[in-house]
Amino acid sequence: MAGNRTFTMIKPDAVSNGHIGAILQRMNAAGFRIVSMELTRLSVAEASEFYAIHKERPFFGELVSFMTSGPIVAAVLEKDNAVEDFRTLIGSTDPKQADAGTIRADFADSIEANAVHGSDSDENAAIEGQFFFGRRAQH
Ligand code: RTP
Ligand code: MG
Repeated sequence: MAGNRTFTMIKPDAVSNGHIGAILQRMNAAGFRIVSMELTRLSVAEASEFYAIHKERPFFGELVSFMTSGPIVAAVLEKDNAVEDFRTLIGSTDPKQADAGTIRADFADSIEANAVHGSDSDENAAIEGQFFFGRRAQH
């Protein structure tokens, strides 16, 4: 059975463009409840660990420098079928490929500066929520 939690970040591009409020509104309107949330900044070490799965990819250095370029909003969200439904809400990684009405179609600048992160599995949602919030993600 699909889990009911996912983890998201509003990335530095969307924070600096003033889209925090509009993006949170999309999440709430789609039925996601905010379990934990924090406006924070990633260190280079934290961004490297968070995206360690991509460390051999050619874009890894740019990804880490982008994700540490300014504040982010980290949050644990709750809804039935959370991971899959949230990926549908945010749209494809590349905003040019993202369906109309998705968060990335409406707020992302590029394949890298793509406004939001969403966990890709229940297992990673739990790991990522723990990474940011520890036991506070359990509320
Ligand atoms: P995310 O993990 O942030 O939710 O994004 P995703 O699953 O849709 O995409 P993923 O393949 O996990 O890539 C992670 C992030 O790396 C940046 N990226 N840049 N320059 C490029 O070709 C490229 N490809 C990916 C994006 O910020 C992407 O969200
Ligand atoms: Mg991913």
